[in-house]
Amino acid sequence: MKKILFSVCFIMASMSVMAQDVKRLPEPDKNIKMTLFQALQQRKSVREYSDKDIDDMKLSQLLWAAVGINRPDGRLTSPTAINAQDITVYVCRKDGAWLYVAKENALHKVSDKDLRQAIAANQKFAATAPVSLVIVTDNAKFRGGSTNGPSISGAIDSGYVSQNIDLACEALGLATVPRATMDKETLKKELKLTDDQHAILNHPVGYKK
Ligand SMILES: Cc1cc2nc3c(=O)[nH]c(=O)nc-3n(C[C@H](O)[C@H](O)[C@H](O)COP(=O)(O)O)c2cc1C
Repeated sequence: MKKILFSVCFIMASMSVMAQDVKRLPEPDKNIKMTLFQALQQRKSVREYSDKDIDDMKLSQLLWAAVGINRPDGRLTSPTAINAQDITVYVCRKDGAWLYVAKENALHKVSDKDLRQAIAANQKFAATAPVSLVIVTDNAKFRGGSTNGPSISGAIDSGYVSQNIDLACEALGLATVPRATMDKETLKKELKLTDDQHAILNHPVGYKK
């Protein structure tokens, strides 16, 4: 009897840990009023953010625009060379670092640490945004991928995702700036990246101050 009770408690404790480590996002609302050309007209880099947090709906909309699935065959909002789908986006904020898993529309926790300072590096303003997105390419997704830095295709693919983030931020009333500056060594360790994975760009995201 004791054994059964212990097993039940153990399973319940594991389930609660799993629930904390996976956060489902709401279905992204795609009925955005701003047109693409209005977003292009307004796009700009913003480096001053207010304290206001980004709610789960806005985050879900932003991540879907960045690298979400937009077709039944699993293809994405951003193009990738040879449909390698080499890009992953990490959401870094006060409550830790999370991997966006598009097919689940969920965040999977990869670190309990607040990595916004490592992302900001020598640009202090970047750590004041409530969310920082890190765009990572994986050389292993390309045939003959090497580990000597990111591939050209991976760098280009990152640029598409970054532009999607830029335009989606405008459409959602959010503020951002694409950045190449970041402490890549710390991020590689804390995001548990493989030698094939390279952080290329990041986006602090918040509301304009
Ligand atoms: C590849 C790339 C890397 C960038 N890196 C940084 C950066 O590390 N820090 C920063 O403050 N801005 C960075 N920027 C933003 C540019 O400085 C900005 O886009 C440029 O000054 C033009 O301003 P705008 O975006 O408002 O048109 C980067 C932009 C790109 C495209």
